[in-house]
Amino acid sequence: MSAWLEEWNSRQDVYIGDRHRDRHFRAVARDIVRLLPEGSGRVLDYGPGDALCATRIAAACEEVVLCEAAETIRARITDRFANEPGIRVISPGQLTDLAAGSVDLMVVHSVAQYLDVDELDALLREAHRLLGAGGLLVVGDLVPPGAGLVSDTAELLRFALREGFLGEAVPALVRLAFSPYARRRRRLGLTRLGEAEMTARARQAGLSGHRVWPNVGNNQARWTFVARRAAASARPGR
Ligand SMILES: C[S@@+](CC[C@H](N)C(=O)[O-])C[C@H]1O[C@@H](n2cnc3c(N)ncnc32)[C@H](O)[C@@H]1O
Repeated sequence: MSAWLEEWNSRQDVYIGDRHRDRHFRAVARDIVRLLPEGSGRVLDYGPGDALCATRIAAACEEVVLCEAAETIRARITDRFANEPGIRVISPGQLTDLAAGSVDLMVVHSVAQYLDVDELDALLREAHRLLGAGGLLVVGDLVPPGAGLVSDTAELLRFALREGFLGEAVPALVRLAFSPYARRRRRLGLTRLGEAEMTARARQAGLSGHRVWPNVGNNQARWTFVARRAAASARPGR
């Protein structure tokens, strides 16, 4: 298991309180629904975390598949959505059960920074297999080169101010700065990706993509990449 995945499997979460967690998931679900291709059947959310607002997405399509690699999170969301017929929870190993071309929207939000480039390339190849002809891949919250803890903190404070939880945010940020997550982030770093690199990696996987504004969710120091299957002549690199 990768070091980051271990961290996600074991640690408490990064939200600074209930309001932050709630507003974060609401904003992500709102933006995902906006990006849904017309008449979407299946949405695949890769690395959904606690997916607190998955029912909002399920209300706008036929099925939401939540593919979560961290076992502890997967167990929680399997429980949470056990009685939701439109939501299915799977592990990455079960992606192969999904038929080629059966996904209308694949979301990978706030995950790519924890993947090494080989994992990212493999995921892009899987997206190429899974996306239908009109299907869309949305990779959100990409951390550009040069961005980091300072820009993330500034964005979080702006979000807290807008959403009325600034009072909670300041002491919680101090706690977060000394948390195991922050220590691991300093030690492992995040994978930073610019538009040219993402576009090239996607092209290697047989996808054609570009940057879109604004970023999905709240952190506008980060960015969103969207892609579709490239024309039939383009073959994914191996
Ligand atoms: C910040 S959370 C994002 C959750 C959700 N998409 C959101 O926007 O709130 C990071 C997610 O990436 C997943 N993740 C981290 N490292 C991973 C890896 N190496 N392979 C697959 N998933 C990974 C975690 O399990 C977690 O679900």
